Amino acid sequence: METIETQGVAIPRLGFGTFRMPGGGCQPVVESALALGFRHIDSAAMYENEEAVGAAISASGVKRGDLFVTTKVWHDHLRRGAVRKAFDASISQLKLDYVDLYMVHWPSADMDLPAMLEEMMTLKAEGRTRAIGVCNFNMKMMRLTVEEVRAPIATLQIEYHPFLGQSRMLEYVRGKNIPLTAYAPLAQGRAAHNETLQTIGKRHGATAAQIAIAWLLDQKGVIAIPKAQKESSQRSNLHALKIKLDDQDRSAIAALPKDLRYVKPPFAPDWDA
Ligand SMILES: NC(=O)c1ccc[n+]([C@@H]2O[C@H](COP(=O)([O-])OP(=O)(O)OC[C@H]3O[C@@H](n4cnc5c(N)ncnc54)[C@H](OP(=O)(O)O)[C@@H]3O)[C@@H](O)[C@H]2O)c1
Repeated sequence: METIETQGVAIPRLGFGTFRMPGGGCQPVVESALALGFRHIDSAAMYENEEAVGAAISASGVKRGDLFVTTKVWHDHLRRGAVRKAFDASISQLKLDYVDLYMVHWPSADMDLPAMLEEMMTLKAEGRTRAIGVCNFNMKMMRLTVEEVRAPIATLQIEYHPFLGQSRMLEYVRGKNIPLTAYAPLAQGRAAHNETLQTIGKRHGATAAQIAIAWLLDQKGVIAIPKAQKESSQRSNLHALKIKLDDQDRSAIAALPKDLRYVKPPFAPDWDA
């Protein structure tokens, strides 16, 4: 699996999402993903499945060093002291000695950004997480994080798929050598039913979902983390790594609407800031 080197870690470009699989039911799903070859597992305290993710890792027999495991701190813990507490809870649920990437899940209006980032940097310095990252930051927050606090951000994780453009943010993070991790890369399943993607898929002997993944991985510095409960979809998503799009495919996808954001909780930041 191709990886992207960033801040001393190598992130597999195709990861496995675990949102909306709370509790023990997540374990066999992650075990199946690991058996098929996924090595990058994206979890979060908020997903309420860290224990199951950890159990799947332990049962898989895959060497810890061959895995890239992430988790995230929820936005009500973004103060000095609270980040470490949340980290301790996550790592004990996962039953791991360290995680590969610890991320801020969502920003909050009253977060103490420098203090929170400093605490994450301390966790990194202590080797409890190999890298740190942020999710759902707008441009203003990214500038503060990268240019003022100078936090060694290994990735920015945001919603990105064929129906939501991220050109402004992509240009910024590429300029700073920060990979962009695309969450909801299948637009939460909608990509599978899109006619344009289906038509492109026919030319490649592929499905529309595979084309959505191939489109993301066709872009420099982009990582994608589709979630799939079904084993057949997990397998099919892995096979998307083999698809090579051409200019005709790229222009057809470029012509799709690029303003469809599907993840919009009430606490989301101002995306235009
Ligand atoms: N940082 C954040 O704030 C944030 C927010 C959202 C998501 N995420 C992360 O990103 C991951 C991915 O996002 P997501 O789970 O929201 O959405 P997604 O990966 O875009 O879509 C998942 C949906 O697509 C379906 N699917 C998967 N592979 C398919 C295939 N080959 N053909 C047809 N359908 C397929 C899945 O079905 P089945 O599961 O039924 O197989 C599921 O319903 C999450 O799991 C999570 O780890 C992070």
